[in-house]
Amino acid sequence: MKSADSRTSWLAALAIGVGVQSVWAQGNDTLVPLTFQPLPLGAIKPSGWLQDQLALSANGLAGHEHDFYNYVAHSTWLGGTEEYSDLREGFPYWFNGLVPLAYSLDDSRLLDQVHSAADYVLGAQQDDGWLGPETGTERNFWGRMPFFLGLMNMADADEAYTEKIVDALWKFSGLMNGMLRDNYTGYHYHDGDQVSQGDEQWGRVRVQDMLITLQWLYTEHSDGHNGTQLLENMDMLIKGSLNWADWYNPTTYIKQDLNTVADDITDANFPYEHGVNVGQGLKALAVFRRYAHNDSLVGTTKNAVDWTFQYHGGASGAILADERLAGLAPYYGSETCTIVETMYSLSYLYQALGDASYADRCEKTAFNALPVQLTPDWWARQYVSQPNQPYAENLTETPFWNVNSWGQSYGLEVDYPCCTVNHPQGYPKFAAAMYVKSGDSGIAHALLGPGSVTVGDDTVDCTTTYPFGDILEYNINSKSGFDFYVRVPGWADTSKTTVTVGSTSSNVDIDAHTGLHKISIPSGPTKVTYNIGNPGIVLENRANDTVAVHYGALVFALAIPSANSSTQPKAYNNGGNDYLPDGYAPAQSRDYQYHNTSSWNYAIDPDTLVVHGTDFTGALPNPLFAPGANPLSMTAKGCEISWGYYHGVPDTPPTGNARKCIGDVVDVRLEPLGGAKLHLVDLPTLTLT
Ligand SMILES: *[C@@H]1O[C@H](CO)[C@@H](O)[C@H](O)[C@H]1NC(C)=O
Ligand SMILES: *[C@@H]1O[C@H](CO)[C@@H](O)[C@H](O)[C@H]1NC(C)=O
Ligand SMILES: *[C@@H]1O[C@H](CO)[C@@H](O)[C@H](O)[C@H]1NC(C)=O
Ligand SMILES: *[C@@H]1O[C@H](CO)[C@@H](O)[C@H](O)[C@H]1NC(C)=O
Ligand SMILES: *[C@@H]1O[C@H](CO)[C@@H](O)[C@H](O)[C@H]1NC(C)=O
Ligand SMILES: *[C@@H]1O[C@H](CO)[C@@H](O)[C@H](O)[C@H]1NC(C)=O
Ligand SMILES: *[C@@H]1O[C@H](CO)[C@@H](O)[C@H](O)[C@H]1NC(C)=O
Ligand SMILES: *[C@@H]1O[C@H](CO)[C@@H](O)[C@H](O)[C@H]1NC(C)=O
Repeated sequence: MKSADSRTSWLAALAIGVGVQSVWAQGNDTLVPLTFQPLPLGAIKPSGWLQDQLALSANGLAGHEHDFYNYVAHSTWLGGTEEYSDLREGFPYWFNGLVPLAYSLDDSRLLDQVHSAADYVLGAQQDDGWLGPETGTERNFWGRMPFFLGLMNMADADEAYTEKIVDALWKFSGLMNGMLRDNYTGYHYHDGDQVSQGDEQWGRVRVQDMLITLQWLYTEHSDGHNGTQLLENMDMLIKGSLNWADWYNPTTYIKQDLNTVADDITDANFPYEHGVNVGQGLKALAVFRRYAHNDSLVGTTKNAVDWTFQYHGGASGAILADERLAGLAPYYGSETCTIVETMYSLSYLYQALGDASYADRCEKTAFNALPVQLTPDWWARQYVSQPNQPYAENLTETPFWNVNSWGQSYGLEVDYPCCTVNHPQGYPKFAAAMYVKSGDSGIAHALLGPGSVTVGDDTVDCTTTYPFGDILEYNINSKSGFDFYVRVPGWADTSKTTVTVGSTSSNVDIDAHTGLHKISIPSGPTKVTYNIGNPGIVLENRANDTVAVHYGALVFALAIPSANSSTQPKAYNNGGNDYLPDGYAPAQSRDYQYHNTSSWNYAIDPDTLVVHGTDFTGALPNPLFAPGANPLSMTAKGCEISWGYYHGVPDTPPTGNARKCIGDVVDVRLEPLGGAKLHLVDLPTLTLT
């Protein structure tokens, strides 16, 4: 922790170094604590269906990029020559995802990969402290941000790495201080003769991802180091940033479909509209607040999240942004990178602010939006997915702002490589945030799912098929007893939600802010059964007289029967018209199109929806997120309607009298979205009985 006199020196340093009194600093050198402390990476071990997904990813594309994928295996960070952009972010993104994947699974092959990568980069730290391959005016902070998050997690997970990582980051911090004092060098780097502009200033709009590591370094590892310098870095980074508080402001924020707004207005705010930035930036103001001690940022953060989903969100918890925020039309795309960043931001926000709505949203995105964007075997991913996507093919035209004709097919690097290197962080970070510390000795099951945690002498092991089932069974062992908490989802019917300890059942008594119910665990072994009252089917009204079908934390979509075809992987550039060289990728890496094998243009009668399969027993199938694989399904009455096209994909469905059956009333099938690669989520309704 910090020494008492550093505050004075820090304020003095600000006066000298930056020349202006900080607008953010409140003269308090203690960071605002997180509501819940995260547990060190590795303390939580996923099991059940979640472990299956991590293992598929480890044995799939994520776990093989280090062997062959140019932007990892031959990255300039590892002494190679390959980058997909001068941001040099490919390797950092990969590292950020592979560290939690490797440690959560204890996978020795992946551990070797992340160790050798960390050893190389730390070993190549430049004399002045810079980490990474850049020299001179090419130095841009951004690429460091995901890499440092990976280092932070590795330092927590592995004592063999803690000291060298902490030392390397402190050395970097000294250099960063000088760079920031020198007119914010590192924020506006030079690309050739050009000072970076616009989307090359990603560091300024993504700076929260740097601050998280600096804040961790400050609270956990500042003994014997100059904490004042770190505070000063945080101050300058925030001052020089593109500040999300300026965007999440009622007079600036664009609530309309951006494709209907004049270019000069959208262009002025582009960094705040870029989908991945939005996903990452949802947490920004909560991160800033830890330093700024500014509680108005709590409300601004709530607006940030609520407005994003209200005006630019899909029912699945995806942010609709096909490179730039769009609107609510069901043909817009959500980017895989944006999904995983959204999950990480929402899990961070629950830890930082304790507001249960962030955990509910995080689960929604994790259980629905993420898995539909990957093939069942985790060897291929989409660039964007659409709420209504009855085929995933090379489109003749696209409805997207800036995504090419292959963008919603599945492949190695369709459209752009960022999602290839960034998708691996999704479930590993979710798994690592499932449990948190509450207070000094409490443990909370914050994000629900199967897995165990060990904290000191206490272990909690949860067996569950949640969110596909509603019962969570815990085997708990404690040396001296502790307070255990379970989060009760916002959608739960609390009158039917019970907790059974030993043979005593009781209803839950929920903290209104955190959604947590407390259970006192005695010393010794304890069995707890947590039964979440499922209210059944819940309809969400969507645009133009459509509904999305929710069931607990799941979204059910009309499942369009499909067949797939595949080719060897295509290069992302040149419009996806060139194949990558033979032998470049392992044989399992294929580019897939999914073709509808029936008509898709159905309206349904929501009053006829029936859920099937809730009585399934035993383990969930593996792979789980494949068409037809999930034991849960729904049926409803439906009929074909005439439904037009918009730029090569289904338009918004007709409304009013234009919506009528053009065929017989038949039974249609809905499935949990994750497996239904071809699907309609925003469903037009008709009364058919
Ligand atoms: C708190 O943050 C808001 C939003 O950025 C800003 O308008 C306000 O000036 C800040 N207050 C202080 C005391 O820093
Ligand atoms: C400084 O901030 C910490 C954390 O929010 C708080 O507990 C403490 O009271 C603050 N100190 C002062 C002097 O305001
Ligand atoms: C600081 O950097 C910006 C962006 O490169 C430049 O426009 C400005 O002139 C610089 N200011 C000084 C004092 O060097
Ligand atoms: C610590 O950092 C501050 C801020 O950069 C600086 O003013 C001070 O001289 C440093 N202290 C030491 C002992 O290096
Ligand atoms: C609703 O339908 C109208 C008319 O087709 C269309 O212009 C509008 O974009 C649709 N809105 C959404 C959010 O899909
Ligand atoms: C993919 O679609 C684009 C645009 O519609 C077209 O130009 C291209 O020839 C198609 N490629 C293949 C292999 O069909
Ligand atoms: C493609 O279809 C075949 C045959 O149904 C199936 O075995 C395979 O798993 C599918 N591949 C993907 C990536 O969905
Ligand atoms: C699949 O969808 C396309 C586009 O709407 C349609 O033309 C085609 O008939 C559908 N395929 C089948 C087998 O129904």
